Amino acid sequence: MSQIPQRKITVVGAGYVGATCAHLCAQKNLASEIVLIDVLEGRPQGIALDMNQSAAVEGFGARVIGTNDPKDTFGSDMVIITAGIPRKPGMSRSDLLSTNAKIILSVAQYVRTGSPEAHVIVVTNPLDSMVHLCRVATGFPGQRVTGMAGVLDSARFRTFLAEEFNVSVEDVTAFVLGGHGDTMVPLVSYTTVSGIPITQLLAPDKLEAIVNRTRNGGAEIVAFLKTGSAYYAPSAAAVQMAEAIALDKKRILPCAAWLQGEYGLKDVFCGVPCKLGRHGLEQVLEVTLTAKERADLHKSADAVRDTMKALG
Ligand SMILES: NC(=O)c1ccc[n+]([C@@H]2O[C@H](COP(=O)([O-])OP(=O)(O)OC[C@H]3O[C@@H](n4cnc5c(N)ncnc54)[C@H](O)[C@@H]3O)[C@@H](O)[C@H]2O)c1
Repeated sequence: MSQIPQRKITVVGAGYVGATCAHLCAQKNLASEIVLIDVLEGRPQGIALDMNQSAAVEGFGARVIGTNDPKDTFGSDMVIITAGIPRKPGMSRSDLLSTNAKIILSVAQYVRTGSPEAHVIVVTNPLDSMVHLCRVATGFPGQRVTGMAGVLDSARFRTFLAEEFNVSVEDVTAFVLGGHGDTMVPLVSYTTVSGIPITQLLAPDKLEAIVNRTRNGGAEIVAFLKTGSAYYAPSAAAVQMAEAIALDKKRILPCAAWLQGEYGLKDVFCGVPCKLGRHGLEQVLEVTLTAKERADLHKSADAVRDTMKALG
């Protein structure tokens, strides 16, 4: 069994995304203690018991604790928030707004008091407004509150491109910026297959079809599942961010970040390339965008602001 760092990670919400996040954190030995909290009595306890038994087979050393008591989360170094209702077929992410806002506010209260030094990664939708609300309600600096969307959207884009070219997804590099929704901005100018610009490899109409499929990547899965939404890729994406912070990896990942003038955007959360390390969001990287990409990014930020206004 490998050495486990003395670290406490709390995952809020023991649903599909939360349980998968907790298991991935354990498998990657990111923490010695992983707390899984949910309002449903028995669910986090049962999942934790099951997960701890998988440790005997998989050989991870983390202790997973399932609870309904916020006090058990106190002193966390990191909190991944997945609590909330997911989409049903035909629903947009914004349809989740008021229900999930109440949930985020209640969670943020005990994170603020009980884990004042924690790094928070928000997954709950509608992502950009929930991460904004979480930052305001915790009072934490933007450096310690980020949202997961871009890693997932980029993973979807990379997957569709790899399928199109019949190449390993490892060789496809792509960045999807902007808000998590219909206004996301796949950066075609930074998309390559082993360094070869995508525009040299794919006809514009095919590229556009893949971009559109990426925009609707979540809805495509919701339509298949009928109840619930995607969780394997979302959890993998959230835990990649957690790992980058926990292990001070200085990864460059697209995350929803609190912008203070970068890309000409201020006081809004929007997906941009970020350096993640032990201080959390250590730097927002400002890459050169085409005029259209910049306009699309601003349009996306406007859509996030509109959702924020709807919150009041
Ligand atoms: N950012 C993204 O890219 C992305 C991707 C996938 C899912 N999501 C979002 O993640 C959220 C969770 O999705 P899921 O599929 O796991 O849903 P789920 O219904 O399986 O799980 C949600 C869990 O949250 C719990 N919960 C509700 N209120 C709570 C509270 N106050 N404290 C603790 N737990 C609480 C519920 O009891 C439930 O177990 C949804 O909002 C979904 O839209 C976001």
